[in-house]
Amino acid sequence: MNHPLRKVVIPAAGLGTRFLPATKSVPKEMLPIVDTPTIQLIVEEALSAGATEVVVINGRGKGAIEDHFDRSYELEDTLSRKGKQELFQLVRRISDEVRVVSVRQKEPLGLGHAVLAARHAIGNDWFGVMLGDDLIDADGHEAGIAQLVNVARATGKAAVALLPVPEEQSHLYGVAAGPLLGGDAGKIGAGGHISVEKMVEKPPRGTAPSNLAVIGRYVLPPEIFEILAQTKPGAGGEIQLTDALAVLAARGQLVGVRFSGVRHDAGDRLGYLQANIAYALKRPELREGLLAYLREVVK
Ligand code: UTP
Repeated sequence: MNHPLRKVVIPAAGLGTRFLPATKSVPKEMLPIVDTPTIQLIVEEALSAGATEVVVINGRGKGAIEDHFDRSYELEDTLSRKGKQELFQLVRRISDEVRVVSVRQKEPLGLGHAVLAARHAIGNDWFGVMLGDDLIDADGHEAGIAQLVNVARATGKAAVALLPVPEEQSHLYGVAAGPLLGGDAGKIGAGGHISVEKMVEKPPRGTAPSNLAVIGRYVLPPEIFEILAQTKPGAGGEIQLTDALAVLAARGQLVGVRFSGVRHDAGDRLGYLQANIAYALKRPELREGLLAYLREVVK
């Protein structure tokens, strides 16, 4: 990668079946973490890494996402007339700061297929992919996607985010393996990175090549589109981004970055509840009340 991050793709066209019935009409990426839609937190992460253009991959009934990042004249006018300046700024800020382009994925044929839908909007640039239901709370470190950009720029290679997971969970993820770069052999610490030699999507139990799960942040070269266009449906009959990344890995063009920060899987019900609690505990106006309630219920 030879330029700063400008564009990111946020795939948000999945069916979100784990959140039915809510996701019958509301995309799961719009479900709030305390009071802010998950996708807005992800867009804010992209902005803090310097991105200026966000391509959201939409599916059926995802108009709510487009509306969220657009101006809302009626609401803004009412807030402004009622003198609610703080709320006015809150609503206005996100539509002012970023250009959001929406692309439709006509059928949810997999994450790889969703990324391929962004081909014309991205053109010939390197770009970020940020999954619409994966939150990274950088917890004082640089934004999650920015940590990947640093490694992609230093190595000239595509980068994926890695997180060690317990062995009994590795069948739920894409898993990456390869030698540690720029450090001692052995355990990969926060900030470390590996040269990815192997990528497997949802390996059957007991066959994972490592404990390093790929989680929802990627920095990719434009060549990935040609690879995706030739990728056949894989696990679950879907066009898998992991299979296209395996091609980059085979060419020696992929690194895996053990990022610093905390990841929440907001696409999973338990992960979503945990994210709400973690983010609420960081809000001074909510912290004490929530703690008192938690102490009460765990008694
Ligand atoms: P998931 O597999 O978590 O999303 O995809 P899902 O299929 O919507 O979830 P469940 O399992 O039915 O509850 C990860 C991300 O990729 C997007 C999803 O919107 C989510 O943000 N995605 C997935 C697409 O955009 N298109 C697809 O075809 C599949």
